[in-house]
Amino acid sequence: MTSKVMGTGSYVPENIVTNEDLAKLVDTSDEWIVSRTGIHERRIAMDEGTSAMAAEAGRRALENAGIGAEELDVIVLATTTPDNLPPSGACEVQAALGAVNAVAFDIAAACTGFEFALTMVQAYVQTGVYRTGLVIGAECLSKIVDWTDRATCVLFGDGAGAAVVRADESGVIHSVLGSDGTKGPVLTCTSRSTGNFLNGREPKLGYVYMDGQEVFRFAVKKVPECIRRVLDESNTDINEIKYFVLHQANLRICESVAKRLHVSMDRIPMNIGAYGNTSGATVPILLDELNREGKLERGDKIVLCGFGGGLTWGAVLLEW
Ligand code: ACO
Repeated sequence: MTSKVMGTGSYVPENIVTNEDLAKLVDTSDEWIVSRTGIHERRIAMDEGTSAMAAEAGRRALENAGIGAEELDVIVLATTTPDNLPPSGACEVQAALGAVNAVAFDIAAACTGFEFALTMVQAYVQTGVYRTGLVIGAECLSKIVDWTDRATCVLFGDGAGAAVVRADESGVIHSVLGSDGTKGPVLTCTSRSTGNFLNGREPKLGYVYMDGQEVFRFAVKKVPECIRRVLDESNTDINEIKYFVLHQANLRICESVAKRLHVSMDRIPMNIGAYGNTSGATVPILLDELNREGKLERGDKIVLCGFGGGLTWGAVLLEW
């Protein structure tokens, strides 16, 4: 048994922040941001947090799948920006949707979160533990970005994407996931973990720090490598793949991956221009757009691929 995507949904906040808006905040320009990243604008949450965005994406995915919330056995929310610790964001989604029969929990794998979560649900489905799952990637990165740091604040946005999967004959075919904790320091955000009454240190909240060039080098090497592996290990020819749905971190990274894989950019859909990098949410938001635009037909093979903090990376080959 595999987990087949039965429906998708996404949600982004209404509030649009353009490059020109950011140029009033920090020393940057539309030209710099577009030429380095491909980003024109991003959505920034005003009042909604990660759980509310995740719940709305989940509700839309259930509607798209024609499946009731009470039919869900498991909800996995991939996020690095949960609203609370605890409850998990997934439990808040469960409550908001009325998914009374589901177990719900979060996982943290940064920009690869959706691929990790989908692979986990696939393992549950394959082993008969659960039958119907809701997999969500949702982030409210605006609350962990330093809005005075031009090197990072121009890159990120908020949003959520979700997929409902159900046990079926065809669906997720194969996954390749990886982590390298020794490279963790190139992309970090410290949380409130350093202080307690014994050491006398104040709990400190940090902001996103990134060694952009190091992440760039890692991505352009690792993404083609793990896509090739997922294809090789499943005896799939690259020409069978209709779309490579890549994490939207940077247009130049995706163009470099296209070159290295010898595939044209029309097989690598992009929406980074409109949303920026929403970390674990980019892949499911893009997947939802492809689905709703009618670009996916049953039987199509696609590869989802993420990479990011941890460092982590992962590719999931699936039949639509
Ligand atoms: N506007 C204007 N100038 C800027 C900005 C900005 N927003 N940010 C940095 N600069 C300046 C720097 O200060 C530096 O100036 P200097 O030469 O006077 O010191 C100059 O631009 C070049 O800085 P670099 O960091 O070398 O810029 P680079 O060309 O590497 O581009 C970028 C930065 C876009 C982040 C690039 O490294 C990149 O694409 N990295 C990939 C990582 C990525 O996309 N991460 C996204 C999040 S992580 C993830 O999703 C996995």
